[in-house]
Amino acid sequence: MSKDKLWGGRFTQPTDRFVEEFTASIDFDKRLYHQDIRGSIAHARMLGKQGIIAMADAESIIDGLQDILARIEAGKFDFSVSLEDIHMNIEARLSDAIGDAGKRLHTGRSRNDQVALDIRLYLRDEIVEISAYLDRLVDSLLFQAEQNLEVIMPGYTHLQIAQPILFSHHMLAYVEMFKRDQGRMGDCLKRLNLLPLGAGALAGTTFPIDREYLAEILDFSDVTRNSLDSVSDRDFALEFLAASSIVMMHLSRFSEELILWSTSEFGFIELSDAFCTGSSIMPQKKNPDVPELVRGKTGRVYGNLVALLTVMKSLPLAYNKDMQEDKEPLFDTIDTLKGSLKIFADMVREMKVRAEAMRTAANRGFSTATDVADYLVRKGLPFRDAHEVVGKAVRFCIEHRKDLPEMSLAEWQSFSAMIGGDIFDEITLEASVNARRATGGTAPERVMAEIKRLKSGR
Ligand code: ARG
Repeated sequence: MSKDKLWGGRFTQPTDRFVEEFTASIDFDKRLYHQDIRGSIAHARMLGKQGIIAMADAESIIDGLQDILARIEAGKFDFSVSLEDIHMNIEARLSDAIGDAGKRLHTGRSRNDQVALDIRLYLRDEIVEISAYLDRLVDSLLFQAEQNLEVIMPGYTHLQIAQPILFSHHMLAYVEMFKRDQGRMGDCLKRLNLLPLGAGALAGTTFPIDREYLAEILDFSDVTRNSLDSVSDRDFALEFLAASSIVMMHLSRFSEELILWSTSEFGFIELSDAFCTGSSIMPQKKNPDVPELVRGKTGRVYGNLVALLTVMKSLPLAYNKDMQEDKEPLFDTIDTLKGSLKIFADMVREMKVRAEAMRTAANRGFSTATDVADYLVRKGLPFRDAHEVVGKAVRFCIEHRKDLPEMSLAEWQSFSAMIGGDIFDEITLEASVNARRATGGTAPERVMAEIKRLKSGR
């Protein structure tokens, strides 16, 4: 019946049962209970301090809310669909428990600024946690980089062997990506960390509230500046979903490499049994399910971003019920992202690196052809001419089924008289990586310096 609704006054007929279920958000927004209670306690304290409600009422509201919090955490709270969402479930229970004081809590506030506050509080905590998960993954990558400093692998472009690189250098490429992801999460946090409470339904409130005080006790860096924007803004959620999509894009690229590397064709790594599954029919199989699933879950995180962008598109100011659709994409992204990061941190730390297989592959595919060209440049040949000379040598090798290190001096000299006996030392895998010493290069001294820098947190 409309009678038990907190907004039932102007209604004469009860809500249709199915409409009630269809419009309710309690099934998913009950996740916000902690933030909702935290926000309401702050609001009550502010109302009391400002003399908008009696101090005694504020105190009994705070006690009542703490009691509700304990009940929810003990699993002793019945959430009701007819009370629509977490805000009204808690408020109704409070009024049942403490009477009139409870009915004063919503003074100078609307669910519109309340829900904006709750989501910001929730996301703020989650971003801190996600950043810690990113740290753990970075630690695992640094661990592998340090454990395998001697390991040389082929670097690829177009998935064709390009030039030799340190395996550690490859790991550090991902460290750069996840560090940028952390930066993006941090940027999102800066714009998110503003207090929207006090915007009321959309226009502000007639009561003498103190928003700066609310911001202070709720740990916000400042208050939002426009009441309409405060209740209709979900940019912070979109920024979070966009930043999360980029993290997942990085994880999916990494997944793809781990999947390739663990094939028998590559054999560069072996994932721990704990992160793989077998086949119900083929006894020999050990499938890289975890990276495959993370690669697949990237799709749902992108989908969540597009879902919320589409919900927000064309919405007139200020609050619209459409915006209730912000929560599921957000929660699903948080769960997916945290799960993926957590499992990756452990899986990467435990993977076995097959140095010999990487080395064998790095020795194929004419991976040091660029080094021969650079060698000729140092002897005075213009780079374009050097490129041509080495191109011809490669063609010769293909025709004679050999790779560059197997060529004799006489064969080399048939392509250029400038080539001397020192060529053999120039085209080893070690010489190739050692030579790339500029900042950002794959030379071991560079990579070690980067590991040191990253470990010292700079
Ligand atoms: N459950 C709503 C949501 O999640 C809370 C805000 C409702 N405000 C309103 N005027 N109906 O968006």
